[in-house]
Amino acid sequence: MKKKITVIGLGYVGLPTLLLFSETNKFKVIGYDNNKKILNDIKKGKTKMNEKKVKIILKKNIKKKNFDIHDKLSRSDVFIITVPSNINKKLRQNILPLTDVVEKISDVLEEKNLIIIETTSELGTTDYLKEIIFRKNKKLFNGSITKPKFFMAYCPERVFPGNSFYEIKNNPRLIGGINEKSNKEAKKIFSYFSKKIFLTDNKTAEISKLVENSYRNVQIGFVNELANYAFKKNLNIKEIIELSNLHPRINLLNPGIGVGGHCIPIDPFFLIKREFQNFKILNSSIKANNLRTKFITNIIQSNIKKNKIKEINFFGATYKADIADFRQSPSLKIINKLSKFKKIKLNIHDPYIFSSTLKTKKNLSINPKINLNKKFLLNVLLVSHKKYKKLKKLSKILDFTF
Ligand SMILES: NC(=O)c1ccc[n+]([C@@H]2O[C@H](COP(=O)([O-])OP(=O)(O)OC[C@H]3O[C@@H](n4cnc5c(N)ncnc54)[C@H](O)[C@@H]3O)[C@@H](O)[C@H]2O)c1
Repeated sequence: MKKKITVIGLGYVGLPTLLLFSETNKFKVIGYDNNKKILNDIKKGKTKMNEKKVKIILKKNIKKKNFDIHDKLSRSDVFIITVPSNINKKLRQNILPLTDVVEKISDVLEEKNLIIIETTSELGTTDYLKEIIFRKNKKLFNGSITKPKFFMAYCPERVFPGNSFYEIKNNPRLIGGINEKSNKEAKKIFSYFSKKIFLTDNKTAEISKLVENSYRNVQIGFVNELANYAFKKNLNIKEIIELSNLHPRINLLNPGIGVGGHCIPIDPFFLIKREFQNFKILNSSIKANNLRTKFITNIIQSNIKKNKIKEINFFGATYKADIADFRQSPSLKIINKLSKFKKIKLNIHDPYIFSSTLKTKKNLSINPKINLNKKFLLNVLLVSHKKYKKLKKLSKILDFTF
């Protein structure tokens, strides 16, 4: 009989994961999410993911009945948890999605089942979730919390939106089991599509994921700070970076207008809020990235005053180019801040934006007919979507892209 795999949380990570297991034809695959609309959409072949390949494979697997969608969790040989890692008001991980799922799993968990957690998490989360199961169902342990009869592993995801299948299959996969048997079981499952697998323990896997995104935050923070400095000193940041990168061991990134997405601006907090004394550089880079967004806002603001601007066209609102993701978008932060100038008409243009993405304000319109050459008009390019290639050549545009 085929083993049953249940993927829990069918978003950017969960849906392609579900589809990759469906494609193997080796498992009975179930998808579960606590959002009924998402479940109904997936059943109809609809997804928020703007990836052609995901849409095609989704439709193909629906047609072949390669997976089922359930609105309740039931027994399963493998549970893969891909719920979000939100952040709470104290800038700590909101662990509720994980605890909610694990409480539900404990009601149906059986001996020798495997729980895989992919959700980016603070250090110690896997052990804490194991404790929840221990409190709820002691029969699943051989007398002590250190002797579970089930398997559990923390396996962080490194996918880059836009190329999900390739990335999930080809990025080196970390498996951090709570014991060696868990590592062995998790490895068997991921071997169906992961090409490179590395085994470790749960805590090392948890911290490695946070280190990866914190490292990116620091790299971005440094060039963003450098870009502000170059602007103040009237230096060409592009040239500085190109020349510095000629050094064989230097690889500076391009600066942006801050940092966005739901990983790089957020995950570092999971490190610094617990371990502030140990991560001062990281704390500074978070500040530097926020400062960059304020710096850009101030440049636009002074332009408004200097040129008596009455209308602004903003090009680009997603958190980065060519994806339909607005989470933590610095572009939206800039636009929201400037919308306080109630007498200025703000036009937001983005191929991926819909009216519902933004709280509508009176002076703000989304994707209106664009006129580039009015009097007292300011054009601002914030995101380098491929479609905006021609805009970069305009002489009358504030271009913050690279
Ligand atoms: N998106 C990425 O590119 C990416 C890359 C690497 C790692 N990650 C990590 O993977 C995890 C998932 O991210 P995502 O982008 O797929 O998130 P997402 O928001 O796109 O998807 C999460 C899904 O979980 C569902 N969910 C929330 N609470 C639930 C609950 N209690 N029970 C059942 N379902 C629930 C939501 O409805 C949603 O559909 C996060 O920890 C994220 O940091 C994401």
